[in-house]
Parts: sequence; structure tokens; C-alpha cells
Amino acid sequence: MSVSGNEIREKYLQFMKDNGHAIIPSSALVPENDPTTLFTGSGMQPLVPYLMGEAHPKGSRLANSQKCFRAEDIDEVGDNRHTTFFEMLGNWSLGDYFKEEQLRWFYTFLVDEVGLDPEKIYVTAFGGDEANKLPQDTQSVEIWQQLFKERGMSAEVAHMGSEEEGGARGMRRGERIFYYDASKNWWSRAGVPSNMPLGEIGGADSEVFYEFTDVAHDTAFGERCHPNCDCGRFLEIGNSVFMEYIKTENGFEKLPKQNVDFGGGLERITAAALNTPDVFKIDLLWSVIEQIEQLSGKNYTDNLTAFRVITDHIRGATFMIGDGVLPSNAEQGYFVRRLLRRAVRFADMLDIPEGELQNLAQSVIATYGEHYRNLKDKQDEIAEAIAQEEAQFRKTLEKGLKQFNKIGLAITIPMTTNKQGKQIQDTDKKPTQTPFITGKNAFDLFTTYGFPIELTQEIAAERGMEVKMDEFEALMREHKEKSRAGAAQKFKGGLADQSEKVVQYHTATHLLLAALRHFLGDHVHQAGSNITGERLRFDFTHPEKVDREMLDHIEQWVNNAIQNGGEVSIEIMKKDEAEADPTVEGSFWDRYPDEVKVYTMKQSDGTVVSRELCGGPHVKHLSEICGTFKIKKEESSSAGVRRIKAVLLED
Ligand code: ALA
Repeated sequence: MSVSGNEIREKYLQFMKDNGHAIIPSSALVPENDPTTLFTGSGMQPLVPYLMGEAHPKGSRLANSQKCFRAEDIDEVGDNRHTTFFEMLGNWSLGDYFKEEQLRWFYTFLVDEVGLDPEKIYVTAFGGDEANKLPQDTQSVEIWQQLFKERGMSAEVAHMGSEEEGGARGMRRGERIFYYDASKNWWSRAGVPSNMPLGEIGGADSEVFYEFTDVAHDTAFGERCHPNCDCGRFLEIGNSVFMEYIKTENGFEKLPKQNVDFGGGLERITAAALNTPDVFKIDLLWSVIEQIEQLSGKNYTDNLTAFRVITDHIRGATFMIGDGVLPSNAEQGYFVRRLLRRAVRFADMLDIPEGELQNLAQSVIATYGEHYRNLKDKQDEIAEAIAQEEAQFRKTLEKGLKQFNKIGLAITIPMTTNKQGKQIQDTDKKPTQTPFITGKNAFDLFTTYGFPIELTQEIAAERGMEVKMDEFEALMREHKEKSRAGAAQKFKGGLADQSEKVVQYHTATHLLLAALRHFLGDHVHQAGSNITGERLRFDFTHPEKVDREMLDHIEQWVNNAIQNGGEVSIEIMKKDEAEADPTVEGSFWDRYPDEVKVYTMKQSDGTVVSRELCGGPHVKHLSEICGTFKIKKEESSSAGVRRIKAVLLED
């Protein structure tokens, strides 16, 4: 194979570096300080605060290859292009360059660096959204026309409307640029404009597609083919998002700066370079496929699904364990368990000998280890975790399957409605034996035999049985509530969610600390903090009870600060310097990296009311804090530490 995914990754990073980008490391698959999502699913996720206007320590042009995991795609794995784990090549402009540079660079990269045939490249742009007053992206279309013209390509523009309309209209000769509506050419973490919560950022996007001319259009996907048709003739290989809006109560407003958020699938670009619509044929995955062929003595082409599932799942689990996520029954660990247990089942179907999955992981590490050094460093740990999970699962699998076979069949009586509107037995129809698995059965299989519910569902489906999912889910909810108490403290010190109200409470907490220091003295420091969308809870160092009169003063001071509202600004500082600066308040310095953020809160006349070390996020202006600050309770927390609970009462 002449084109290598590793080479394309390096070429892309070099290309971006040559164009002034700082190359930043890939974040871990499990996002830090963002308990709202289990996995990093796109390159922009770790960069949201910077897209919203914060300064990034590495500047305004950034690029990387980000490890991504999309758990929701697990059931799609088996076709020629879906994988749970993938690498997203990404570059970002934080208020630096915009459409012109972005589209030109990506096109140049594809044609001149990767060597794609320009005849096979098609692009799309945002057709506008009247309801949300979001204009059509005519600039991108003009830029694309220019770029195609320079290469002597046809560049006619087509208006496809929505996806379905696109299918009805189809492509015409010479058309290369396609307008679609927001369902296809708008990007935000929450999807289309109407689904976005307030405070979420998004923008129009322009996607690039590669055409596999050997794949004939399948009319099952619509009358006529077009770039966004799902028949497999076109593959999306990259998406440039022009991230310039934030959703507010008054509709969509422009962010302070125009940003670019680009993401391109490394595996897909490599597949396009090989002119194969099957991403499993690229070198990054093919080494595992070859090893499965050897171990099973079977052919990839005759067993596509099983080969693809095993390959995808072992790669995903390898990266996950490399990032410290071990198989377990909770949260991220549960997905690793699911990946591995599913891989075991498919390995059995191919008669792969027991205990070999860890060796497939070694292939993954050999392929990726140069770029992702942590895989090499953790090579033994990864092999052991996989071997252990396989062994443990095999033990329970046997017992569980026996249990499965014992689960009985139930009789379903057909019903009908009589003249009085009552439900009665329908005697015209015969009672049927419906094989099903009760919620309790499924729950026991999960808790006693370690069968992930999806595995129970899969085995049930193979046997024509149905799982009573609502019963199962009710039992799981009960089970979770029981075990919740311990987990509640898990995100202590971090923000449990970043909704608007939580951010307001977070800023109010800084004002509270400033007020406490103002009235009680400089011995007061933060000892702990816990914020929800309903209240703040703040622990601080102070030897004795604070009386109500003093609390009233403190309350008043905070409310004044909110009313005189001024700007909240962020500085990036070297940690040593910030720590040595007497105007910067902070606790837990050792938890912060070498470069830290300092938030300064001012009044409208410029007076500084608070200057504190913090990871953020905060409101941009104190006047954004809604409601009257009210201290509800003051009590002892532990020796020398007091605790305040306070709310923002809506007026
Ligand atoms: N964030 C954009 C995406 O994931 C680039 O498609």
C-alpha cells in the first residue's frame, strides 16, 4: 500500500505549521473538566472556551490530530466507513484568518499534498436559515468558484435545499458546489440552530466530498445521487465550520471574533487517497485485518462485519486503556467493557483462538505508537487489561448463556375491543408464544453474569427473542439511585455543568470570596466550592462563626458589585509569576499547569473588585449575573473552615 495514514497525518501537521499554526497535543479521549460529555467526539471540544473569546496560550492559529470516540456509532460499525474511534485532523483560527485562507488551504492540501484527483472533489455551503435570520454563505461559494477556476474545473452552483429535496433533484453535469439547508451545513455541538441551547456557539460550514466513481448510485437512498446522498458514492472528508455565532435570548448574535473550526477524518482522507471507499483498507487498520486473517484462517471479504467490528473495537479499547480508562461497569469504563466483550463474541464467530485479542492490540500499538507515545509506554498495561477482560468475560459467558437458555417463553393473548369499549380476548386469533426476556432477567444477566444489556439484546435478537427494555431500565434506575450517593462528590472542585446559570454562580462565588476577604481579612481563602444551577456552596478558611449582621454586609457588597457591573477579563500568566503577585488570590496552586488563567473583575469605573486564579468559565460582564445575591446559611464545615450557601434570587 503506497499511501499511509501516518504520513498523511504528518503532512497535514507540517502543512499547517508552514502556515503559521502551533501544533497542540491531542487531548485525552475522556474530556477534562467537562462532565457534560463522556468522550471527546470532535477536535473543537477542548477548545470551546477559546472559540468563545478566551486567549489561547499558543496563539490564534492552532492545529492537531485529535483522538475522537463516538459511542453512538457503535451499532453502525460493520459498514465500510463507520468506526467508533477515529482521528480528526483539525485546525483553528481564533479570530485570525477566515473563509478565504481556510478553504484555499484545505483544497491545496488535498490536491497538492495528498494528491487527490481534483475532478473527484465536490463541496457544499450553507443555504441560509430564514427562521433564525442566518444568511446564505455566498462568500464560501465565491471562494470555491475561484479555487476551481484556478484548476480549470467546472464550478457550477446547485441549490439542493434539504437532504430529501437534494435526492429528488439530483446532480447535473458540471455542478460541483451545492447549497444545503441547516440540517447539512450548520455545525454546533448540539446540531441545527433550533436545537442549540442558549449560550451555545455554532456556524455555517462548508464540507468537502470525495467521489468514488466506481460505486454506482443506489436508488434506495433517493432518486438521484448528490454529495450528501448516503449511498456511498460520495464520502465526506472534511468540514470547515465558520464559528461566528452564539445563541442568545435575542436570537443569533455574532461572537466577538470570527473563528474557523476545521475537522477532517484522517482515515477517510487516507481512503480517498487510495481511492477505496472502505476505510478498513487503509494501513492504519489493515495491519489488524491481516492479523485476523492469519489467526482465523478466514478471508476479510467473506466476513466483513466480524472483521470490521473486531478491528474497530480493539483499536478503540487500546486507545481508551491508553488514556487510563479500564473496563468497568460505570461510565466510560462501560464502553471499554462493551467494546471488548463484543470483540470476544465476534472473535468466537471467526474461530480465533482464545487469548489472542491482546495480540491484536499489539498491532494497533505498533501502527500508532510513534505518534501516540502513551500507547507504547502503556503497552503491557493495555495487553494485560484486555487479556484479563477477555478471561473474565469467558468465565461468565458460559454461565450466562446457560442462564439465557433457561429463560422461559411467555404466552401473549391477542386482545380486541368490544362494543362497550372494553378490552377482551380476541378469540378469532390464537394465543402466541412470545419469547421474551423480562427486565429482571436482563438485569440479573447484567449484575450477576456481566452481560452488558446490548449483548443481551444481541443474543436475544439472534434467537428471535425480545428484551423488555422498559422494565430493565426501571430496575437500572433504581439500582443507580442507590449507588448515586457516593458519586455525587465526584466533580468536587469542577463545575458539574456549564449552563448559563452555573457560570453566573461561578462568577458570584469570586465576588463572595472578595467580599469575605474585604470584611473578614486576608486570612480568608477558598477551601472548597460546589456549584449547581440553583445555588453555590463555598468553603473558606476562617476560625469562627460569621454573624448575620456581617453576612448582610457581605451580601450587600456583592450585590453592589453586580449592579455597578464591569468587565470580566482573562490573563494568561506564568504560574510562578501569578503566585508571587500579591494582587492575585488563589488556592490549590499545585493543581494548575505551568501557565494559568487569572480572572479580573472590574466595576464600571474601572476599580478592580476581584482578581483570582481560576480555570473558568465566567460571565463576560458582571451585569450578566441575574438575580439578587442572598446568603441562606453559614455553618461550620471542618476545623477552621466555614461554609456558606447562597442563591441568586430571581427578581
Ligand atoms: N467540529 C467540526 C466537526 O466535528 C469540524 O465536524
